[in-house]
Amino acid sequence: MSPTDPTDKKVVHVYDDIEEEDNHLPNWWLAILIGSIVFAFGYWFVYHTAELRPTPLAAYQAEVAALREARIRANPTSPEAIVALSRDAAAMTAGAEVYRTTCAACHGLSGEGIIGPNLTDRYWIHGARPEDMLKAVTEGFPTKGMPAWGPILGPERSLQAAAFVLTLRGKELPGKEPQGDPVE
Ligand code: HEC
Repeated sequence: MSPTDPTDKKVVHVYDDIEEEDNHLPNWWLAILIGSIVFAFGYWFVYHTAELRPTPLAAYQAEVAALREARIRANPTSPEAIVALSRDAAAMTAGAEVYRTTCAACHGLSGEGIIGPNLTDRYWIHGARPEDMLKAVTEGFPTKGMPAWGPILGPERSLQAAAFVLTLRGKELPGKEPQGDPVE
């Protein structure tokens, strides 16, 4: 009997005329199976045990964060940059100081409002977007009793003050009655 002779194969099971033979798995099939097991161990070691390389997800997230930072650096007065500044602890220490010395006299030490509106409620006369805060600080509302602070504070401290107002929002402190429209 030659190895290619079909009768050479051992029939181990017959059912409904279907014969089951006990053949070896093809080598190419076994190679793929064993190869992928070896690869999986290697992959796990490189990415998860030794962490020799960042996982694709971590690499992607780092790339997105770098892009965002570059965009913020390129345009520091963008809404995105003002929001990022409002989450920066050092900048907000500076912002609190600018607020205390420049804004608190009219808006209250905690933003609750005195002559100027309550900055902690959800009512806004001139909008509640980050860019509205920056505009309020730099240009003021001279005909309504708020001077333009941009020329006095300069760009950096104006941005810090605007970002600091974002940190006051939503505190809902009791103070000056709501003015303007509610903003969610
Ligand atoms: C001399 C008083 C005074 C000072 C100082 C002052 N503001 Fe105001 N501010 C006002 C008044 C009054 C208004 C309301 C303007 C209006 O009625 O349109 C106002 C409005 C605002 C608004 C818009 C509020 C809204 O409801 O839309 C923001 C934001 C604001 N001020 C932030 C600041 C910040 C930040 C500073 C400090 C850099 C500051 N203000 C300093 C008097 C002041």
